[in-house]
Formats: sequence, structure tokens, C-alpha cells
Amino acid sequence: MKVAILGAGGFIGANTVKLLSTIPSYQITALDITDEKLSALNCRDFTYVKCDIRSDHKLLEQTVESADVVLDLIAHANPSLYIAKPLDVVQLNLFENLKIVELCLAHGKRLIQFSSSEVYGMTGGSDKPFKEDETKLTLGPVARHRWIYSCAKQLLERMVHAYGLSEGLRYTIVRPFNFFGPEIDYLVTDERDGNPRVFSHFMSALLFNRPMYLVDGGRSLRTFTYIGDAVEAFRLILDNEEACAQQILNVGNPANEISIRDLAYMMVEIYCEYTGRDLDVPIIEISAEAFYGPGYEDCDRRLPDIAKLADLGWQPRYDLTDTVRHTMRYYIERYLPEEGS
Ligand code: NAD
Ligand code: UGA
Repeated sequence: MKVAILGAGGFIGANTVKLLSTIPSYQITALDITDEKLSALNCRDFTYVKCDIRSDHKLLEQTVESADVVLDLIAHANPSLYIAKPLDVVQLNLFENLKIVELCLAHGKRLIQFSSSEVYGMTGGSDKPFKEDETKLTLGPVARHRWIYSCAKQLLERMVHAYGLSEGLRYTIVRPFNFFGPEIDYLVTDERDGNPRVFSHFMSALLFNRPMYLVDGGRSLRTFTYIGDAVEAFRLILDNEEACAQQILNVGNPANEISIRDLAYMMVEIYCEYTGRDLDVPIIEISAEAFYGPGYEDCDRRLPDIAKLADLGWQPRYDLTDTVRHTMRYYIERYLPEEGS
């Protein structure tokens, strides 16, 4: 099976290439602006296509045309960008991605479109897990422009669905729930580095002796999924087109729920255990406005229902402790500064 992974140089993409390229039944083409993470993870046996989809239209089309299935991961996926550059988020995540959808349709290719758990928005007071085909999608007001990412992803999903209904597009939509693993975002060494997702912030704080910030007290809950489990789910989705045809699938681990505050303390404990060092990193509560700027509003809780993927035979294997430990070990082994430096 010829698989074109678009956005293959990102966190999910590079980890997916790493695993799939070792399986002889897949032939992987990895398209991205950058291949740094593919190199960092020592990925092999794939074809790299350096391409900016905003300008290299021909190269994008050739890549789609020569594949059997297209996995589209390209997006701005970092909440601080939703606040700082909302128009760029819509331009890339909706309009540029729609061109990929239309190319798949024009060339009769199967599309696996990456969306997000963020489409569910807030719980609206319900404590039920989010179900792909039942749960209402509850977003905050327009002035809270953090929701522009969720809204763009939702409209992309609706367009993919409509192309399926009206034009016969072959598709599956994936909604990831807060994956953890090697090469997520980037480490922060300076205030000017901006705000990556929470793991990278906390890991940078531990490695480089910077404060850990708990946004609005760190009360929000997330369920974290180890990237290795997620890639196993993608493999099942790739190999089971019929069962996944025109489906939306949550990929998450409902057993791995934790508040951001508890995650911070858990990471401190694991860091001290792994390194044998004492730590005096301040853990500071901060308002969302001070951390992200105006326009932020948080998702209070995100619990996935994973019955659909379980029916295909998927169960995540990494519990929360393993998920955090495996990811932290990768960073400690590579980036722990010498003591006293
Ligand atoms: P990422 O930012 O690490 O990867 C995105 C990749 O897209 C990057 O490598 C980037 O270089 C590439 N890209 C951006 N603009 C491009 C362009 N113009 N041309 C070519 N490539 C371009 O993000 P990720 O965490 O790997 O997420 C991948 C997808 O999964 C995204 O669609 C994201 O919204 C979705 N998602 C991720 C998570 C998660 O937990 N990581 C959760 C929910 C949804
Ligand atoms: C993420 C991003 O939107 C996407 O990568 C993705 O689509 C989606 O979730 C997902 O993974 O399903 P979010 O869960 O808010 O959004 O991601 P983080 O930036 O990692 O934030 C998680 C929580 O930690 C939020 O409550 C945030 O306010 C908090 N946080 C973040 C801190 O308390 N401190 C920090 O230093 C960073």
C-alpha cells in the first residue's frame, strides 16, 4: 500500500513514519516543509518530499496522485497560535486542507483526515465521554477566538463528510486526544520561544530550571494518549478501509485522565527519580490572559468514547504513568544538562 503522509515532519507524522516504514506492506512518502523530526527519530525507508503546500501545488498533486491513501496531518496545532495568528490557523487548517480533500476526490484516493478532540469544545456540564456521532459540539463565544481552531477543524470535517455524501469521497476522519511522545513541539529555553503544548513546557521547565505555569490553577482535565498506541490505531484504520469508510473515530485513552496541576507534580516526581537530582522548580499559578493573551478559553474536560475503535480490535496499552515516563525518558536521555552547567 502506497501511503502519502502529509505533515510527516511533525510530531504525529514523524512517529507514524517511524513505525509504518518498518512494515514491508507499506511504501511511505513523507511530505513536509521540514524533515528535522524525521531525522531526530532516525526514520528510514521512506521517500521525503520537501513541499510547502501553499505554493508547491504541482508537487502536492503529484504526491497525492501517486499514492493509494493520503494521511493529512498538516495544520497549525498549537493553542498559542490560535490566539496569536487566528487567520493563519483558518487559512492553513481549513482552506489549504480543503485543496488536499479536493485533490483526493479528483484522483479517487482514500483520505484519512486528521481533525481534533477540540471539535467537541467544552463539556457543557455533562460528564459523559465524547461520542463521535452523538455528542454536541459546544464552543465558546466568537470573542474567545481560541475556538477558531476547533471551528476550522469542524468545518473541514463537515466538508469532508459532504464530499463523501455528494461526490463519493472515500474518507475516514480521526480525532486525536492529546498525544504524548518523543518530538512533540519543541523545548523552550527562552521567554521569546513562545508557548508549545503543555508537555513541552513542563519538560523544558524541568530540564532548564524554569518555572512551571499552571494556567488558571491547572484545574482542566485531559486524557493523554501515548503516541505508540495512537500509531497502532492508524495502522488498523489504514488496513480496514471498509469498516472505517465514512467514519469519524476518536483516538484517545479514557483511562489516562489527569488534571494539569497533578500532571505537573507527577512530572516533577518522575524527573527526580530518573535523574537522582533534587529540584527546586517553582510551580506558579497564572491567569489564562497573562499566559496566552486575551481571547483564550479552556476545554474543561475531554474524555473520549473509544467503542468504535475497540470494535476494530484497538485498545491503548500505555497507562498514564507509562505514557509520561516513556516520553520523559526520551528527553532526559537527550537533553539533560550536565550538573552544575
Ligand atoms: P505538528 O505541528 O507537529 O505537525 C504539523 C506538520 O505540518 C509540521 O511538521 C509542519 O511543518 C507541517 N506543515 C505546516 N504547514 C505546512 C505547509 N504549508 N506545507 C507542508 N507542511 C506543513 O502537529 P502534530 O501534533 O503532529 O499534529 C498533526 C495533526 O493532528 C494536526 O492536524 C493536528 O491538528 C492534529 N491533532 C494533533 C493532536 C496531538 O495531540 N498532537 C491532537 C489533536 C489533533
Ligand atoms: C491541544 C491543541 O489544540 C491541539 O494540539 C490538539 O488539537 C488538541 O489539544 C488535542 O490534543 O486533542 P490543549 O489540550 O489545550 O489543546 O493543549 P495544551 O496546550 O497541551 O494545554 C493543555 C492544558 O494545559 C490547558 O488547560 C492549558 O491551559 C494548560 N497549560 C498549558 C498549562 O497549565 N501550562 C502550560 O505551560 C501549558
